[in-house]
Amino acid sequence: MIRLEHRSHAKECIDDPQVDTGTLRQTYQQIKSINVYTLGYWPTMRAVAYFLKRYGSNRKIKILDIGCGDGEILRRIHDDGCTRSFSLELTGIDLNPDIISSAVTISPPDINFIHGDIFSDHGNADYDLIINSLTMHHLTNQEIVKLTQWMSDHARIGWFVSDLHRHMIAYYFIKCFNSLCRFNQLICHDAPLSVARSFRRQEWVDLLTQAGFNLDHIKISWYPNFRYGIRYEKSL
Ligand SMILES: C[S@@+](CC[C@H](N)C(=O)[O-])C[C@H]1O[C@@H](n2cnc3c(N)ncnc32)[C@H](O)[C@@H]1O
Repeated sequence: MIRLEHRSHAKECIDDPQVDTGTLRQTYQQIKSINVYTLGYWPTMRAVAYFLKRYGSNRKIKILDIGCGDGEILRRIHDDGCTRSFSLELTGIDLNPDIISSAVTISPPDINFIHGDIFSDHGNADYDLIINSLTMHHLTNQEIVKLTQWMSDHARIGWFVSDLHRHMIAYYFIKCFNSLCRFNQLICHDAPLSVARSFRRQEWVDLLTQAGFNLDHIKISWYPNFRYGIRYEKSL
């Protein structure tokens, strides 16, 4: 039986730049299916709707999605009934050049995409809201501390992180789900590992404390699809 007391440091195959484009695109399609079946977009869509309702009525809101993959969340924000009525400027950044070119091809032209590493290629731009989903578990604890600080320096109203809860149920559920759906080998390797690399509530508290946040401005919510949503809202 897998032991999940601590975050795994094993590497996910999706982070290997040698993976061929065909396998990579298929993998992102399969991640999308998992997200759809497990309501993976729900925490982020709710958070975006929350911020827009509070701050979006009389000005354009600039949103950055870090680790945007093929841009699915940004397309949902672009098209969703609750968010469509706001004036939005949407930007996604991802480390992987193949997935960014796919995002450009399949997304409306008014969504901007940047190929780059958030730690080195995106120093000075400012946004209103910064989001990321399933990106944090790819990072080390040290990088997470740095990224949450960067997000708070570069987001005018706040940020929202959605990531997995490291739990036996989530781990074995995703293993069974992958075999039932006959997903590719990369997903069968990475999806349970993503759970093993992910977080428990106290770890978020520790990381955010280390990053210097006042926890009164942070809301950590657990969702029944074994995700945590971490919302930081600035007092304007
Ligand atoms: C599991 S995918 C998540 C895709 C999408 N956000 C979703 O929810 O389905 C994680 C993404 O984070 C990207 N990523 C990891 N580290 C990054 C970094 N330092 N800068 C930009 N993107 C990064 C990876 O390339 C990958 O596309």
